[in-house]
Amino acid sequence: MKISDAMVAAINDQIKAEFDSAYIYLAMSAYFEDAGLEGMAHWMKKQYKEEVEHAEKFIDYLYERGARVIIPEIAKPKEAYADALEVFKTAYSHEQYVTSRIYKLVDLASSEKDYATLSMLQWFVNEQMEEEDNTGSIVSKLEFLGSDKHGVYTVDRELAAR
Ligand SMILES: [Fe+2]
Ligand SMILES: [Fe+2]
Repeated sequence: MKISDAMVAAINDQIKAEFDSAYIYLAMSAYFEDAGLEGMAHWMKKQYKEEVEHAEKFIDYLYERGARVIIPEIAKPKEAYADALEVFKTAYSHEQYVTSRIYKLVDLASSEKDYATLSMLQWFVNEQMEEEDNTGSIVSKLEFLGSDKHGVYTVDRELAAR
């Protein structure tokens, strides 16, 4: 079964969203490097690389289906944040947004009875669950610590191990 034009366009859109995510996390990594929080910088750099891998997964999928890939323009990410908590809150809500995008892709694939795309998307459904869990639990820790700088430093050490 040939993949539909609408599905190809929606996946190309998602390729852009994954590269935008990568850039957002790379900018967060740069923010943390500048703030002297090297563990968080390292964590965000890994996150950046994961997002590039997500984009590549979608790219390779379109190649496999014989569809045209459009390499997107990447949006300039936000550079300034108040503190580590604001960064991770932004990352958490960004992941929730990406999950809603993935669900829309699932809706489209379902309505088209495109079972191959549905099967590919299942990996992303699971991945988003993990991404929300990871960023959400860091937000909870940082919220608990509040202005405890020593505590934030401990979380920084912990995130260096990713
Ligand atoms: Fe992603
Ligand atoms: Fe993500």
